[in-house]
Amino acid sequence: MTARIAPSVLSADLGRLREQVERAVEGGAEWIHVDVMDGHFVPNLSFGAPIIRALRRITDRPLDVHLMVEHPESYIADYADAGANVFTFHPEATVHVQRHLAAARERGMLAGLALNPASPLALVEEALDDLDLVLIMSVNPGYGGQSYLPQASDKLRRTRALLDRAGSRAVLEVDGGITPETIAEAWNAGADTFVAGTAVFGGADPAEAVRELQRRCAVPV
Ligand code: DX5
Ligand code: ZN
Repeated sequence: MTARIAPSVLSADLGRLREQVERAVEGGAEWIHVDVMDGHFVPNLSFGAPIIRALRRITDRPLDVHLMVEHPESYIADYADAGANVFTFHPEATVHVQRHLAAARERGMLAGLALNPASPLALVEEALDDLDLVLIMSVNPGYGGQSYLPQASDKLRRTRALLDRAGSRAVLEVDGGITPETIAEAWNAGADTFVAGTAVFGGADPAEAVRELQRRCAVPV
């Protein structure tokens, strides 16, 4: 099994979005991660459906949309129509979580739940049958370029154990501060999918950056 890298376009140069995404995909990026922020659930604004539509024209890779917004259910239909493939939201940001997961699946998307660093794993436990992905935040969301919180590794281990016990085949994704220095730790803790913004788009060559992240997972630590 190789690590699935999901570069976050939050850190891309939007003026060169096509070139940057194409380079990341050439380097082996499997998913493209899209961070949606509303200035309420997180203290920052980013983008929404227009960028999803633009990315849909740029690449055929799955678009992994991470909603850091209140009432994410308002966007299920819009984002499905815009071309989103993975719809991940925070249970801290809404109620009727099971209903919204089911609605995302009905629209043909994978349904995911994301947890802030201080949010208990119990928030996903009762929803395991209804989800395709668990996203463990390894920073407090809102900004790119933050440092990996070491306590995320233990949470990843506990999430992996929970999924295994339940016989769930859900993707286990980690997001925040993933770099060549931190990725192996998250990989060894059980993550299989890695969001990386600064590490992929902050340097000169996104393709080489993706390859470097993958290489770090091949080496036992
Ligand atoms: C954080 C976002 C992340 C962010 C990651 O609020 O959810 O996806 O773009 O950025 P890096 O990899 O720079 O920590
Ligand atoms: Zn994200």
